[in-house]
Amino acid sequence: MSDKPWYQEAVFFELNIRAYRDSNGDGIGDFRGAIDKLDYIRSLGVDCIWVQPMYPSPLKDDGYDVADYTGILPDFGTLDDFRAFLDAAHARGLRVVTDLVMNHCSEEHAWFQAARQDRHSPYRDYFVWSDTPEKYSGARIIFLDVEPSNWTYDEVAGQYFWHRFYASQPDLNYENPAVHEEMLNVLRFWLDMGIDGFRADAVPYLYEREGTNSENLPETHEFLKKVRRLVDEEYPGRVIIAEANQWPEDLLPYFGDGDEFHVCFHFPIMPRLFMALKSGDKTPIIDILARTPPIPPGAQWMTFLRNHDELTLEMVTPEERQWMWEQYAPDPRMRLNMGIRRRLTPLLDNDKRRWLALNALFLSLPGTPILYYGDEIGMGENIWLDDRHGVRTPMQWSAATNAGFSEAEKTYQPVIDDAEYSYRHLNVAAQETDANSYLNWTRYLVAARQAQPALRAGTLAWVETGHAAVLAFRRAEGDNRVLCVFNLSDTARPSGIIPATTQTDLLSRDKRSFPAGEEIHLSPYECLWLLEN
Ligand code: BGC
Repeated sequence: MSDKPWYQEAVFFELNIRAYRDSNGDGIGDFRGAIDKLDYIRSLGVDCIWVQPMYPSPLKDDGYDVADYTGILPDFGTLDDFRAFLDAAHARGLRVVTDLVMNHCSEEHAWFQAARQDRHSPYRDYFVWSDTPEKYSGARIIFLDVEPSNWTYDEVAGQYFWHRFYASQPDLNYENPAVHEEMLNVLRFWLDMGIDGFRADAVPYLYEREGTNSENLPETHEFLKKVRRLVDEEYPGRVIIAEANQWPEDLLPYFGDGDEFHVCFHFPIMPRLFMALKSGDKTPIIDILARTPPIPPGAQWMTFLRNHDELTLEMVTPEERQWMWEQYAPDPRMRLNMGIRRRLTPLLDNDKRRWLALNALFLSLPGTPILYYGDEIGMGENIWLDDRHGVRTPMQWSAATNAGFSEAEKTYQPVIDDAEYSYRHLNVAAQETDANSYLNWTRYLVAARQAQPALRAGTLAWVETGHAAVLAFRRAEGDNRVLCVFNLSDTARPSGIIPATTQTDLLSRDKRSFPAGEEIHLSPYECLWLLEN
């Protein structure tokens, strides 16, 4: 057993309850359905499930518009169903973290309704109001495609209110201590129930201040430290994870001196993994990790390839963004805001060599990885659905009606049924029996990582290969050392690596070994995890 905090070595799984399994035939996934699939999630080898927003909501932002912080969306079940899900996960050794949307709520939240209707309501000051839309003009607009401004005029209130995301999501006013108390009580409510922590959504934007870009402000960090104190004092061992789409140097303060978040998402590395694979050049990966400062002991980065949002291109230069769009989003419909609304496998043209290389890279670089539901079987996307719904379609369990997701006539979104990615042939049941399927490769890769302390949370050192297309690094933890080697290009190459002792490749199922003294040659997109003895 390792003495590291659990979240430093874990593999996470991102779960959208709506998309997973419908137990009552209404076409929408629910907690009872998800309980039936926990053994499957466990079989992937992951340690912790991140449950996306499950709160009552008008669903204008798929639940990130919360109408009641301590309830459960009736479509998903009841609080008892949630408790049953939590207990069933814990019984299987799976932890559960949930999304905590602190920055904003839904316009339908009782606080906002009271605030807009009565200037003198104590809730008025829960939100940020102005008589003009000119304030805080230094703040960028995030949902560029649909929102012309961060201010929207509310007829009933007779003032403008502030929102960093959709106009249906008024920002909470963190200048008001009552908002702090409300949010801390929301944390306590769920932590008392036994959840293992939170993924704190959109944390850079809690405060706004004139003359700044209203992101990452010191007062925001002060509040977040207060959240951490609550966790340390009242719920030790639970985790808080920051979703902050920022440059590495701006992320560092979210760890504080080990007194803010335990874990921060590392957004900038994600597009660079795709860039390196497409260009056959490792430089973007090495550069961004060189730009990533050391973090306090006990802290960790969180990494991902894809998630429920567009593949964000906020953390690249305008030229790189244009290049990424050209390479990975040839159809304009694939582009959304500053990103790409596609799933992992179609981005890689359903090419298993590239899929393996990218997953092996992602699972061996530092950080706690998150797998996104459906990507483990190579699910496709539907770019014709609105917003980001095309990457949130029903899980494909089998070739049965509605992919075995639901017995309803109509599902919340159509299941994927195009020639290449149709549930009729691309589904869990079909992949279970195929040793070479995406599903079984996911299990194999995760298990291979989990077995090596060096890969879980060891140190990283680059290894020179002499080729831009050949990336190599060593992960080490005590005596456990794994040399990871990747050919990022589509041509065979010498790796520049000559093992000093015979080495075994953990990624080949027949445990291929490489003799000492002979240079290793790599086939196109080949990757190796060499256990060094
Ligand atoms: C979530 C998005 C959501 C946004 C606003 C993000 O961080 O990942 O899905 O639209 O927050 O709540």
